[in-house]
Amino acid sequence: MTGPDPVSLWHRLVDTCVLLDGFHALKHAVRFGAEVPVAVAVDRGAALALAEELAPDVRDTLDALLTQVPESAYASLVPRPHPTGVAALAVRPSRAAHLEKLAHTPRTTPVVVLDNPRNLGNAGAVIRLAAGFGATGVVTTGTLDPWHPTVVRGGAGLHFATAVERLTVAELPPGPVFALDPEGDDIRGVKLPDDAVLAFGSERSGLSPELRARAGHLVALPMRPQVSSYNLATSVAMTLYHWSLGGA
Ligand SMILES: C[S@@+](CC[C@H](N)C(=O)[O-])C[C@H]1O[C@@H](n2cnc3c(N)ncnc32)[C@H](O)[C@@H]1O
Repeated sequence: MTGPDPVSLWHRLVDTCVLLDGFHALKHAVRFGAEVPVAVAVDRGAALALAEELAPDVRDTLDALLTQVPESAYASLVPRPHPTGVAALAVRPSRAAHLEKLAHTPRTTPVVVLDNPRNLGNAGAVIRLAAGFGATGVVTTGTLDPWHPTVVRGGAGLHFATAVERLTVAELPPGPVFALDPEGDDIRGVKLPDDAVLAFGSERSGLSPELRARAGHLVALPMRPQVSSYNLATSVAMTLYHWSLGGA
């Protein structure tokens, strides 16, 4: 018995699903429980060999999911071919489930807030960091869609490992808000609690007045005079690392 033609299935689902671009994105998404209705590979054998080598835990799942398609068909499905020749569509997790997770207390790991971020690559890198540190979620304010395909690409499939949603400042999850700003108190003297809401400003203009008004604490990363600021994603990395150390 043969399944449905993967290319037709792809066209049917592409507008409502999330593109997983490349082997690593698919591997991560599967590992963290994504529902994947269609997955294609230009060379199925090579993709499974990669899984055997790098991700034996998901090898059998990928074996069941992947369908080989001609290179021309694969190229017609993706914006630009990935070196691994693998692509898949995943069902976007329910917003209601994410909101419940973000609102749940007591919380054992922080929520990262990006206040009106502008750069899609930064947002993806932050989601990857949040997944790596086991953060509860990543919330964005403003117009950027944190599920935009370029953000998902930057996140390497790790959107499925944390709760990613867009909210207004008024809707932020509960918890003490620590907002990162070069004018704040030196982070090396601050203990970040596990239920912290860690907020970061926009690449262009820093923290919005609304977010500043919500913040209980302004915290600065060590930076020598004459340097204006760090990149947004590296600021998140340093802050999550500081939180992970646990001390003040
Ligand atoms: C690229 S910076 C924003 C620069 C912006 N031009 C401004 O006026 O603030 C993006 C965000 O990273 C965080 N950040 C960057 N450098 C920081 C530092 N030294 N201490 C604390 N937060 C920092 C802040 O949350 C900042 O809003």
